[in-house]
Amino acid sequence: MSLPKVVHLTDVGPRDGLQNEKQPVPAAVKIELVHRLQDAGLKEIEATSFVSPKWVPQMADNAEVMAGIQRRPGVRYSVLTPNMKGYEAAALTRPDEIVVFGAASEAFSQKNINCSMAESIARFEPVVRAALDAGLGVRGAISVAVGCPYAGEVPAANVEAMSRMMKDIGVPLVVVCDTIGVGTPNKTQAAMEAALKHYDIDHVAGHFHDTYGLALANTLASLEMGVYQYDAAVGGLGGCPYAKGATGNVATEDVVFMMQGMGIETGIDLDKLVDAAQFISDALGRPLASRVGRAILNKRAA
Ligand code: HMG
Ligand code: MG
Repeated sequence: MSLPKVVHLTDVGPRDGLQNEKQPVPAAVKIELVHRLQDAGLKEIEATSFVSPKWVPQMADNAEVMAGIQRRPGVRYSVLTPNMKGYEAAALTRPDEIVVFGAASEAFSQKNINCSMAESIARFEPVVRAALDAGLGVRGAISVAVGCPYAGEVPAANVEAMSRMMKDIGVPLVVVCDTIGVGTPNKTQAAMEAALKHYDIDHVAGHFHDTYGLALANTLASLEMGVYQYDAAVGGLGGCPYAKGATGNVATEDVVFMMQGMGIETGIDLDKLVDAAQFISDALGRPLASRVGRAILNKRAA
């Protein structure tokens, strides 16, 4: 099949990218990062999460971050909401979209959100209804869709089951997530196929961590199936506190470079995106991790 001509990228850097940072990151830095991402042309930004501050202290400033963002028309700001308590707090901050997040393994569901897969669906159901009634967008993330740090290999049947349950409670779009970056192109395609049993191509997205360096290969494998919506994190930041050892998301700038080279439109200014990546790396006191980011910085310095 022919490849998509346009891809929609959601930068999850401010949320997935920073949730795992040990050092406190000031809200002002998170807000500045969001501003830089929207300046670079990102139209979807996952800004923060409304989870327990005891579980994820780094996201405790969620309301402050949301209040500090100077919103740009045409940009959608999403937040994670695992339950009604999170949704109610999030709703006060006027997100455009909320994300419920379940898992394709029982073990990960317990570790990450302290309940079984079926219980998570029961928690999400009123959240999804309330969000849709309020006119918000809703996404349903399915973590550990190809491999789990606790259960090992995850059968595609689990992804299919979770997709069906998400569909049953009215989640309009699912995100197939390789939380620990163990996916290979064939396994990623199998997980995507499982989600596509219940959702059409316009309602399935990919979210690939790059632990083993295959996130771009998995993006390409999904692109070949027609999937055109992806999460990525500026600077390749990221990781889930309940997936030890897993590294960052695929870097947004790596994805943009690949798409541009393939003639696929992203609407993103790569130079400004690299500036944003450098900004957050400097703020964290680390060298920029992404390959494309480093290459462009080296070229500028030459
Ligand atoms: P729980 O302990 O089962 O919840 O946690 P509970 O309902 O029994 O409540 C216990 C306490 O938490 C109570 O407070 C609640 O008020 C409070 P206490 O009375 O003890 O003082 N509480 C909350 N506080 C703030 N916001 C809330 C909230 N809910 C309850 N929403 C819960 C369940 C889901 C809250 C907990 O397990 C949690 O916060 N987990 C964190 C999960 C997380 O953020 N993980 C990282 C994001 S997911 C991810 O990174 C994967 C993704 O990127 C895709 C991929 O790569 O796979 C999306
Ligand atoms: Mg993630």
